[in-house]
Amino acid sequence: MAGLEKALVPQPCTLIIFGGSGDLSRRKLLPALYNLALDGHLPAGFEVIGFARSEMDDAKYRSFACEAVQKFSRRPYDAAHWAEFERALHYQTASFDDPKSYQALKSRLDEIEARGATLGNRIFYLAIPPSFIGLCARQLKEAGLVHPAKGAEQFSRIIVEKPLGHDLESARKINDELAHVFDESQIYRIDHYLGKETVQNILVMRFGNSIFEPLWDEKHIDHVQITVAEEEGVGTRAGYYEEAGALRDIVQNHILQLLCMVAMEPPYVMDPEVIRSHKLEVLRCLRPFTPQDVERYVVRAQYSAGFCRGLPVVGYRQEKCLKIDSTTETYVALRTFVDNWRWAGVPFYLRTGKRMAKRATEITVQFKNVPRVLFNVDATNPLEPNVLAIRIQPDEGISLRISAKLTGARVRIYPVKMDFRYGTTFGADATPEAYERLILDVMAGDPTLFMRRDEVEAAWQWIDLVQEAWQQKAPERLPEYAAGTWGPPEADRLIESDGRRWRTL
Ligand code: BG6
Repeated sequence: MAGLEKALVPQPCTLIIFGGSGDLSRRKLLPALYNLALDGHLPAGFEVIGFARSEMDDAKYRSFACEAVQKFSRRPYDAAHWAEFERALHYQTASFDDPKSYQALKSRLDEIEARGATLGNRIFYLAIPPSFIGLCARQLKEAGLVHPAKGAEQFSRIIVEKPLGHDLESARKINDELAHVFDESQIYRIDHYLGKETVQNILVMRFGNSIFEPLWDEKHIDHVQITVAEEEGVGTRAGYYEEAGALRDIVQNHILQLLCMVAMEPPYVMDPEVIRSHKLEVLRCLRPFTPQDVERYVVRAQYSAGFCRGLPVVGYRQEKCLKIDSTTETYVALRTFVDNWRWAGVPFYLRTGKRMAKRATEITVQFKNVPRVLFNVDATNPLEPNVLAIRIQPDEGISLRISAKLTGARVRIYPVKMDFRYGTTFGADATPEAYERLILDVMAGDPTLFMRRDEVEAAWQWIDLVQEAWQQKAPERLPEYAAGTWGPPEADRLIESDGRRWRTL
C-alpha cells in the first residue's frame, strides 16, 4: 500500500471544498485537516477555501470550523494550535451553477497563489451530492480553473465522494462528465473504508506473513463472512438514504472493497495500478445474480421500532421525513461466490444494517474442519473450526480461534483465542481517521487507496442485477427486524440452510 515502499510527500496546495459548510466537512474533513496540522503532516504551503451555498465570510467559516473541530476532532482541541491553523481557512459563498461563483473562486485563488506558498496546486474536493458532480466539473473547466494533467507545472486534482451514481448507467455518466474535464490520473474517487488502518492491514497480514497465504484458498477455507453493522439509524440523512438503501450505500462500495482486499491475488509490486487491477479482477469474478438467485440468496429488510443503547427508537418508516409506506432496505444479507481458481465454491456471506445490536465491522474467515478422526471423531460434539476474525472497527484487531487442551488428566478440547489489539499494541489514539490518510494521499498524488473508474463500474454492474430483480418484484412491505437486533430471521435462514451460522459479534 501507499506509504509502505515510499514515504508520502504531500505537496503544497489549496484545497477547495465544495460543500465546505456541509455535514461531511463538519464531521470529517475539517477535523481531519486539523489533526494533520497537529501531527505536522500538512505541507508548508497549505490553504483551504470552503466553497458552498451558506452565506459566510472567512471569520464565520473559521468559527464554524472551530466548533466542528471541538466536537469531532480525534485529538483534543488546542487553542494555540487552532489559532495557527485557522489562518489557512477561507470561504467563498457559491451557487454551483453560477459562473460568477467560479469567477469569485478564481479571484480568491489568484490572491492566495500570488503569495507563492501553494505553488499554484489545486485540489477540488466535491463533498456534494453526485448529481452536482458533472455540473461543477464543467463550471471549473469553463472558468479556466483546471490545470491539464500533462505539461503544466502545477497540478489540479479532484476528489469525489461516494455514492458515484445510483446504478451503472448514472455512474458511467458521471465518470464521462469527469473525464471531459479531468484525466483519470487526476480523479480520486473516495471510499473512506480504504483509508482505515485496519483495512490497509489486510494486505500486510496476508502478504507480510508466511502462515496465512498457503491456506488462503478453497482447499482450506470453508467460507468468509463480512459484516458492516451500525447502531445508528438514518439520522439526518433520511432524504439521501431513502433513495439509496443499504445495498447502494454500503454493499456497492465498502463491503465490496473489503471483499476485494480479502480475495485479491498477491500484487507483485505496491503500485496503484497493479493493486487496483487485482481488485478489479475480483469484482469481475463475482458470480452474477439471476432473478431466482436474488430471491433465494439476497435478503432485504427494514428496522422497526426497538431499542438503541437501552433507549426506545422509532422504526425506519417513522423516522422524520420518511414515507410511511417506504420499502427502502436498511438491511441486506446475501451469499455470493468469487468464481475463480482460488475461491471456487467458497461462499462469501455479506451483511449490513442500520440500527443493529451494535456497531461492528468484521471480516471472518472460517477454515475447514479438521478430519473426523482423533480429536474430532465425536459427530455429536465436533471441534470448533479455526476462525480468523479481522476486526475493522471498533476494537480494531485480529484474532485467531484455535483448539487447545483444557488442563487436566483427561483430553478435553476447548476453543481459545489468540488476539492482537491495535489499542493495546500501538496505543489508544494512534490510529488516524480514514480521511486524514486519504487527504494526505491526494496531496502526495498517490491513488492506491482510491477507486478507479473501472472498479466502480464493475461494482455497479453486479449490484444492478440485484436492484433490477428487486424492482421487478416490488413488495408492499419488507421483512422487518426490531431496532437493536441482528436482523430478520430470513437472514439466519439464508446462512443456516447451508449448515452455517452468522458469527456472534
Ligand atoms: C457511509 C455511509 O459511506 O459510511 C453511511 O453513507 C455509513 O450510511 C458510513 O453510516 C459508515 O462509516 P463508518 O466509517 O462509520 O463505518
